This record gives sequence, structure tokens and C-alpha cells, in this order.
Amino acid sequence: MRNRVEVMHGVNLDQLGRRDPTHYGGVTLEELERRISECARELGLEVRFFQTNHEGKFVEHLHRLNGMTDAIVLNPGAWTHYSYAIRDALELTRLPAVEVHLSDVDAREEWRRRSVITDLCLARIAGKGPDGYRDALERLRTEIAE
Ligand code: DQA
Repeated sequence: MRNRVEVMHGVNLDQLGRRDPTHYGGVTLEELERRISECARELGLEVRFFQTNHEGKFVEHLHRLNGMTDAIVLNPGAWTHYSYAIRDALELTRLPAVEVHLSDVDAREEWRRRSVITDLCLARIAGKGPDGYRDALERLRTEIAE
């Protein structure tokens, strides 16, 4: 049965709870991961989490994912907008992925509208806060169950 999902948080996501609540709400990363875990349980998915502030570590984690997971949910934070290294590593995984952003990146600064990973992902979910992760898990469940 394919039900394993790796949830990857990038740079500064460990600072949730301290970041601008108008964009990110008040939830901490720990609370967010608890909510994602609950949701995964309801959906019959097995989730594992990873967060780092180091781009190379994020890349190396992607390198290790083959055979370890069936799908990826990723919010690379600011790296989303410019990291071709992360893009290349994501492409290498050949795994179904969904890009998530807590904030509505398209309604913020111009530079946040650009994502270098969107075309490698099945979907891009933004501006729905923690609920966006539920949508991502549902989308991936449909994909990997097939
Ligand atoms: C973010 C949006 C990015 O632009 C920002 O740099 C982040 C978080 C989000 O979840 O809304 O760190 O990915």
C-alpha cells in the first residue's frame, strides 16, 4: 500500500509563531505538524516531517527520499522563489509532489509570485493557512492510491 508522505518545511518555517501573523497566523511549527498528523491519520496516510534552514540539507534530504516515501508535500519558504538547486533535486526524486504556502503568495510582493518548482508539482496551494496542508494530503492520496 502506498501511503507514505514526506512533509518538508524550508527556511524560516521553524520560526512560525513569531512571524507576521497577518500572513502566517499564530500557529507554531509544532502545532502545524500536529494538525497535519491528525489530518493524515484521518486520511490513512503516514507522514514524516523534515525542516531545515540549510539549503544543502534540504537538497540532500530530497536525494534520500527514493524508496523512503511515496509522495512529498513541500513548503520551501523563500527558497521557492529562486532555488534551482532545490528544483533540480525535486525533479530527481520523480515523486508526486504538492507545493504549499501558508500565505497568499500571489497577493504579496511581486517576487513571491514566482516559484521555480510549480511546474514539477501536481498542485500549488497558497493562502489557505494550515488547511492548505490538508488539501495537499488529499490530492496526494488520490494520486498514490491509483
Ligand atoms: C511561505 C511564503 C514565502 O514567500 C516565504 O518566504 C515563507 C513562507 C508561506 O508559507 O507562505 O517563508 O512559503
